[in-house]
Amino acid sequence: MNSTSSINKFLPESEIYEILLPRIEALINSGEPLISNLSNVTAALKEAFDKISWVGFYFLHNGKLYLGPFQGKPACTVIDAGKGVCGAAVKLAKSVIVENVDGFPGHIACDSGSRSEIVIPIAAGNVILGVLDLDSYFLSAFNETDKSYLEKLSLMLTEKLAFNYLDPIIKY
Ligand code: SME
Repeated sequence: MNSTSSINKFLPESEIYEILLPRIEALINSGEPLISNLSNVTAALKEAFDKISWVGFYFLHNGKLYLGPFQGKPACTVIDAGKGVCGAAVKLAKSVIVENVDGFPGHIACDSGSRSEIVIPIAAGNVILGVLDLDSYFLSAFNETDKSYLEKLSLMLTEKLAFNYLDPIIKY
Protein backbone atom coordinates (compact mmCIF):
# COMPACT_ATOMS: atom_id res chain seq x y z
CA MET A 1 0.00 0.00 0.00
CA ASN A 2 1.38 3.38 -0.87
CA SER A 3 0.06 6.91 -0.46
CA THR A 4 -1.95 6.77 -3.69
CA SER A 5 -3.76 3.44 -3.31
CA SER A 6 -7.48 3.73 -2.57
CA ILE A 7 -8.81 3.45 0.95
CA ASN A 8 -11.86 1.18 1.34
CA LYS A 9 -14.81 3.59 1.37
CA PHE A 10 -16.98 1.13 3.32
CA LEU A 11 -14.84 1.48 6.45
CA PRO A 12 -16.17 3.64 9.28
CA GLU A 13 -15.08 7.24 8.71
CA SER A 14 -12.89 7.26 11.82
CA GLU A 15 -10.94 4.31 10.37
CA ILE A 16 -10.61 6.08 7.03
CA TYR A 17 -9.11 9.08 8.83
CA GLU A 18 -6.80 6.77 10.85
CA ILE A 19 -5.37 5.47 7.56
CA LEU A 20 -5.51 8.80 5.75
CA LEU A 21 -3.77 11.12 8.22
CA PRO A 22 -0.47 9.18 8.38
CA ARG A 23 -0.55 8.92 4.59
CA ILE A 24 -0.96 12.67 4.27
CA GLU A 25 1.87 13.15 6.76
CA ALA A 26 4.08 10.88 4.63
CA LEU A 27 2.99 12.67 1.47
CA ILE A 28 3.92 16.17 2.57
CA ASN A 29 7.52 17.29 2.47
CA SER A 30 8.64 20.30 4.48
CA GLY A 31 11.37 21.06 1.93
CA GLU A 32 8.92 21.48 -0.94
CA PRO A 33 6.71 24.51 -1.67
CA LEU A 34 3.63 24.99 0.48
CA ILE A 35 1.39 25.22 -2.57
CA SER A 36 2.57 21.81 -3.82
CA ASN A 37 2.08 20.13 -0.46
CA LEU A 38 -1.35 21.62 0.15
CA SER A 39 -2.50 20.67 -3.35
CA ASN A 40 -1.81 17.05 -2.49
CA VAL A 41 -3.58 17.38 0.87
CA THR A 42 -6.79 18.48 -0.89
CA ALA A 43 -6.47 15.67 -3.46
CA ALA A 44 -5.98 13.04 -0.74
CA LEU A 45 -9.05 14.24 1.18
CA LYS A 46 -11.27 14.39 -1.91
CA GLU A 47 -10.16 10.90 -2.99
CA ALA A 48 -10.89 9.41 0.43
CA PHE A 49 -14.46 10.65 0.90
CA ASP A 50 -17.21 10.59 -1.72
CA LYS A 51 -19.27 12.94 0.44
CA ILE A 52 -16.84 15.80 -0.30
CA SER A 53 -17.93 17.93 -3.26
CA TRP A 54 -15.27 20.58 -2.69
CA VAL A 55 -12.22 20.85 -0.42
CA GLY A 56 -9.71 23.63 -0.29
CA PHE A 57 -7.75 26.23 1.61
CA TYR A 58 -8.37 29.94 2.01
CA PHE A 59 -5.57 32.11 3.38
CA LEU A 60 -5.74 35.41 5.23
CA HIS A 61 -4.02 38.38 3.65
CA ASN A 62 -4.74 41.98 4.69
CA GLY A 63 -7.89 40.84 6.46
CA LYS A 64 -9.42 38.98 3.52
CA LEU A 65 -9.46 35.27 2.73
CA TYR A 66 -7.93 34.26 -0.60
CA LEU A 67 -8.47 30.96 -2.38
CA GLY A 68 -5.60 28.50 -2.12
CA PRO A 69 -5.10 24.93 -3.39
CA PHE A 70 -8.40 23.09 -3.80
CA GLN A 71 -10.22 20.20 -5.48
CA GLY A 72 -13.66 20.64 -6.98
CA LYS A 73 -15.46 23.23 -9.05
CA PRO A 74 -13.99 26.73 -9.44
CA ALA A 75 -14.75 28.73 -6.30
CA CYS A 76 -14.95 32.31 -4.97
CA THR A 77 -11.43 33.74 -5.02
CA VAL A 78 -11.87 36.32 -2.24
CA ILE A 79 -13.98 36.27 0.93
CA ASP A 80 -14.31 39.54 2.85
CA ALA A 81 -13.45 39.66 6.55
CA GLY A 82 -16.02 37.91 8.69
CA LYS A 83 -18.16 36.81 5.74
CA GLY A 84 -19.56 33.34 5.12
CA VAL A 85 -18.82 30.21 7.08
CA CYS A 86 -15.10 30.67 6.41
CA GLY A 87 -15.12 34.20 7.80
CA ALA A 88 -17.09 33.01 10.83
CA ALA A 89 -14.50 30.31 11.59
CA VAL A 90 -11.75 32.97 11.47
CA LYS A 91 -13.73 35.41 13.64
CA LEU A 92 -14.62 32.76 16.22
CA ALA A 93 -11.16 31.13 15.94
CA LYS A 94 -12.82 27.72 15.99
CA SER A 95 -14.17 25.06 13.67
CA VAL A 96 -17.69 25.55 12.36
CA ILE A 97 -19.98 22.71 11.24
CA VAL A 98 -22.99 23.76 9.14
CA GLU A 99 -25.51 20.93 8.76
CA ASN A 100 -27.69 22.87 6.32
CA VAL A 101 -26.19 25.86 4.53
CA ASP A 102 -29.68 27.33 3.98
CA GLY A 103 -29.90 27.78 7.75
CA PHE A 104 -26.61 29.69 8.02
CA PRO A 105 -27.16 33.42 7.49
CA GLY A 106 -24.47 34.80 5.19
CA HIS A 107 -23.40 31.45 3.78
CA ILE A 108 -21.53 32.09 0.52
CA ALA A 109 -22.76 29.70 -2.18
CA CYS A 110 -19.82 29.19 -4.54
CA ASP A 111 -21.69 26.08 -5.77
CA SER A 112 -25.49 26.16 -5.54
CA GLY A 113 -25.49 22.37 -5.10
CA SER A 114 -23.67 22.59 -1.77
CA ARG A 115 -25.84 21.51 1.21
CA SER A 116 -23.52 21.28 4.20
CA GLU A 117 -20.05 22.40 5.16
CA ILE A 118 -17.25 22.27 7.73
CA VAL A 119 -14.55 24.90 8.15
CA ILE A 120 -11.40 24.30 10.22
CA PRO A 121 -9.06 27.16 11.15
CA ILE A 122 -5.40 26.85 10.24
CA ALA A 123 -3.51 28.48 13.10
CA ALA A 124 0.06 28.89 14.25
CA GLY A 125 -0.35 29.22 18.01
CA ASN A 126 -3.06 31.82 18.43
CA VAL A 127 -2.53 33.41 15.00
CA ILE A 128 -5.10 32.37 12.41
CA LEU A 129 -3.49 31.96 8.98
CA GLY A 130 -6.48 30.69 7.05
CA VAL A 131 -8.99 27.88 6.89
CA LEU A 132 -9.57 24.43 5.45
CA ASP A 133 -13.08 24.32 3.95
CA LEU A 134 -15.00 21.16 2.99
CA ASP A 135 -18.39 21.16 1.26
CA SER A 136 -20.89 18.42 0.50
CA TYR A 137 -23.93 17.94 -1.71
CA PHE A 138 -25.48 16.02 1.24
CA LEU A 139 -27.17 17.58 4.27
CA SER A 140 -25.36 17.05 7.61
CA ALA A 141 -22.38 15.43 5.89
CA PHE A 142 -19.85 16.52 8.52
CA ASN A 143 -19.83 15.70 12.22
CA GLU A 144 -17.64 15.70 15.33
CA THR A 145 -15.51 12.85 13.90
CA ASP A 146 -14.61 14.97 10.87
CA LYS A 147 -13.98 17.96 13.13
CA SER A 148 -11.68 16.05 15.44
CA TYR A 149 -9.56 14.47 12.67
CA LEU A 150 -9.47 17.60 10.50
CA GLU A 151 -8.30 19.63 13.49
CA LYS A 152 -5.49 17.06 13.97
CA LEU A 153 -4.65 17.47 10.28
CA SER A 154 -4.61 21.26 10.62
CA LEU A 155 -2.19 21.02 13.56
CA MET A 156 0.03 18.60 11.68
CA LEU A 157 0.16 20.94 8.68
CA THR A 158 1.23 23.95 10.71
CA GLU A 159 3.84 21.85 12.50
CA LYS A 160 5.36 20.50 9.28
CA LEU A 161 4.95 23.37 6.81
CA ALA A 162 6.24 26.94 6.66
CA PHE A 163 3.02 28.93 6.47
CA ASN A 164 4.97 32.15 7.09
CA TYR A 165 5.89 32.01 3.38
CA LEU A 166 2.26 32.44 2.37
CA ASP A 167 2.40 36.02 1.15
CA PRO A 168 4.55 35.36 -1.93
CA ILE A 169 2.08 32.66 -3.01
CA ILE A 170 -0.84 35.06 -2.66
CA LYS A 171 0.87 37.98 -4.35
CA TYR A 172 2.22 36.25 -7.41
N1 SME B 1 -19.26 28.44 1.49
C1 SME B 1 -18.11 29.15 1.93
C2 SME B 1 -17.42 29.87 0.78
C3 SME B 1 -16.37 29.05 0.13
S1 SME B 1 -16.97 27.84 -0.88
O1 SME B 1 -17.78 26.91 -0.09
C4 SME B 1 -15.78 27.03 -1.64
C5 SME B 1 -18.51 30.18 2.99
O2 SME B 1 -19.71 30.43 3.21
O3 SME B 1 -17.60 30.76 3.59
